[in-house]
Amino acid sequence: MSKIPVAVLGATGNIGQRFVSLLQDHPFFEIAALCSSEGKVGGRLADFWRLDDAALDADVGAREIEPLDARVLARSGAVAAFSALPPEVADGLEAEAARAGAKVFSNASSHRMEDDVPLLVPEVNPDHLRLVERQATFARGGFLTTNPNCSVTGLALVLKPLADAFDFSEAHVSTYQALSGAGYPGVPSLDILANVVPFIESEEEKMRQEAKKILGTLRETVVPSPLDVWANCARVPVREAHLEAVSIPLQEPVEAEDVARALASFRGEPQRRRLPTAPRQPILVRSERNRPQPLLDLNAGEPARARGMAATVGRIRVTDRNLRFFVLSHNTLRGGAGGSVLNAELAARRGYLA
Ligand SMILES: NC(=O)c1ccc[n+]([C@@H]2O[C@H](COP(=O)([O-])OP(=O)(O)OC[C@H]3O[C@@H](n4cnc5c(N)ncnc54)[C@H](OP(=O)(O)O)[C@@H]3O)[C@@H](O)[C@H]2O)c1
Repeated sequence: MSKIPVAVLGATGNIGQRFVSLLQDHPFFEIAALCSSEGKVGGRLADFWRLDDAALDADVGAREIEPLDARVLARSGAVAAFSALPPEVADGLEAEAARAGAKVFSNASSHRMEDDVPLLVPEVNPDHLRLVERQATFARGGFLTTNPNCSVTGLALVLKPLADAFDFSEAHVSTYQALSGAGYPGVPSLDILANVVPFIESEEEKMRQEAKKILGTLRETVVPSPLDVWANCARVPVREAHLEAVSIPLQEPVEAEDVARALASFRGEPQRRRLPTAPRQPILVRSERNRPQPLLDLNAGEPARARGMAATVGRIRVTDRNLRFFVLSHNTLRGGAGGSVLNAELAARRGYLA
């Protein structure tokens, strides 16, 4: 199979660089264009590289940054575009790219809640991908797909098998969110060093709305799930990975061992199709009393390409019909670029990138 040419929009940012690290040696895709803001155009990607845990291939690093422009995309021959743009830029540009025939896989929030745009976590709601067929641009080959806010992805992954196995109507979650979730340069150092900031703009509302759409049922559009997620979100001085404390009032008595089994045995379409970026086991369950931790668990997931793509759950407790646990997931991999790449692998395997 010849590789599918793709572009990265916002290639110099946190998520953009993660995209490049995942795409530079991808079995399905090859990088055709790297686009970013005017100030970076003409520079080489290597000059802006900041990932200390991912090596940049010399030939990709030597590529010139190109302007963000639908004409650049057309000239590059890119079939798909991975977007790591801020929402205000993504809004018009992603729609324009889809109108021009590009298949857009976006991390931005701009189009997530539109009725005909899938908001995907491929293990949870792969059937929602079919929504792209309802988009006006689909007949000309272009469409838009999105992945959720980084704080929602790990939570949605665990809520799916729990909702399938047990009876509950709400989940309460407190987040400890990493700095990289705020983009680059992100939160000023003097605001966050030796500190915790108990407010992230719109995050709590996004967790509630996006979880309802992801866990919803596909009819003409997505009928939102009745499950309510009540969040308290905080930024903490951690570089990468979001930790979340989850509390769920259960309708019936449940054993902690049954919860652990439901989570650890969960598999989805990415695992059945053996997609390259799919972790063999999407939810790892730890029995140590002090896990998961960002430093120890952010890169959970096997094989090597799925590093950072598994969520880790620990400290599962059930007391008086109250289920409590911690879940941790990598915000720029599973909650960001890795999620989009997995969406694109699913789309490719389902024949949408032909
Ligand atoms: N970080 C996360 O954990 C995470 C997770 C899920 C989703 N997201 C979403 O993913 C998107 C990217 O996030 P990020 O953390 O990677 O942000 P970021 O580090 O600030 O990167 C943004 C990228 O967009 C480029 N850009 C900014 N303004 C532009 C303009 N006017 N024209 C062209 N390019 C422009 C930036 O170029 P410069 O390098 O020149 O600034 C950079 O390449 C956002 O929508 C964010 O909400 C982030």
